Amino acid sequence: MDQMFNLLLQDVYYAEKALLRALNKMAKQATDEKLQKAFTDHRQETEGQVERLEQVFEMFDKKPRAKKCDAILGIIAEGDEVMEKAEDENVLDAGLIAAAQAAEHYEISRYGTLAAWAAQLGNAQAARLLNETLEEEKKADALLSEIAESAVNRQARAA
Ligand SMILES: [Fe+2]
Ligand SMILES: [Fe+2]
Repeated sequence: MDQMFNLLLQDVYYAEKALLRALNKMAKQATDEKLQKAFTDHRQETEGQVERLEQVFEMFDKKPRAKKCDAILGIIAEGDEVMEKAEDENVLDAGLIAAAQAAEHYEISRYGTLAAWAAQLGNAQAARLLNETLEEEKKADALLSEIAESAVNRQARAA
């Protein structure tokens, strides 16, 4: 369990760092102002999440290490494809939201598992930190849904 926890932690550490770069790019590409802000804000939040992970490594006496995570690379690659292929701005924004939500859902599943495992391993403090990030990921996901349902989908239909 301890080892599985550590491997999953390394996986998510890699994913967060990859998402820092991806969110930067998506913020630059997004055309809707609210969407741009959502990406920029979540990028900033992600920096804090990386720090939290480093604290969790430390709580388990482990060095922060990133282990390549193919799942997040696949999700990010899909986002890149959207940016290359979208035929207009509104379709681009809708595609970016879809790609970003796939990333958020991945993170939600990972942090849910990590928080549960940390608690099972008897580290309530680590569980609390991981749950804080989990809540941020859920909020980011909900905000993206809200943006999609308001402006972006309507515009994409009209395009
Ligand atoms: Fe994150
Ligand atoms: Fe996230």
